[in-house]
Amino acid sequence: MRRKFVAGNWKMNTTRQVGVDLAKGLAAALGTGDLGVDVAVCPPFPYLEAVKSAVAGSAITVGAQNCYFEKPGAFTGEVAAPMLVDIGCTWVILGHSERRAILGETDAVIAKKTATALSAGLKVILCVGEQLSERQANQTEAVLNTQMSGSLAGITAEQMANIVIAYEPVWAIGTGVTATNEQAQAAHAYLRGWLAKHYNPQVAEVMRIQYGGSVKASNADGLLSQPDVDGALVGGASLKVDDFVPIVQAARKSK
Ligand code: 13P
Repeated sequence: MRRKFVAGNWKMNTTRQVGVDLAKGLAAALGTGDLGVDVAVCPPFPYLEAVKSAVAGSAITVGAQNCYFEKPGAFTGEVAAPMLVDIGCTWVILGHSERRAILGETDAVIAKKTATALSAGLKVILCVGEQLSERQANQTEAVLNTQMSGSLAGITAEQMANIVIAYEPVWAIGTGVTATNEQAQAAHAYLRGWLAKHYNPQVAEVMRIQYGGSVKASNADGLLSQPDVDGALVGGASLKVDDFVPIVQAARKSK
């Protein structure tokens, strides 16, 4: 039985105060006991420590939205994976479509970041997903295959225990257009099959695959009850307590 995992990707949003208030609000709403699901928040780098303190005592963990693949050294402006561990991060999001499209990250770069993050002791939320034109051209599975092979190059079956895959169709991100339950399930089933083929059935069986793309309270129940949807990576709806908590509750309820 895979434990559901809901993560909030705050992207380049909030101020320090707004982020701390949001984190405190989530911690208060979700309480101190075992939630029955994993919950993480991923604020911008400058607010990681403040948010980490704000959720102290709750079961909420904290993640970053990126890291660099080199060891600490002369890389102006970059953040090394061990630095994130040092300030108490559990997770790092890698391969987000905004970084692929806007910052030009390739699968090869993402693979290097994944390996570095894992060896530093971070857990990785690895994002994959097709663009609208690729879906329309029936290339969704081909794109996912390329991204999975490229972004996981050199990662062993043992290391996969510290990875979560996030399926984020690019056309559903920030658009208000969500994949239907069936579209999400089909892509997740493809990804799980890919893992069985390229790793082994055990890796596929235990791997958590989150869905991301316009997840909100009103569609979370349907998405999270799909057999291969093991959680959500939430953007816009992770920025308000009243929007995010119902998604966590939907994950708790779903079987
Ligand atoms: P939205 O939930 O705002 O569509 O963003 C999804 C996303 O990109 C999460 O990483």
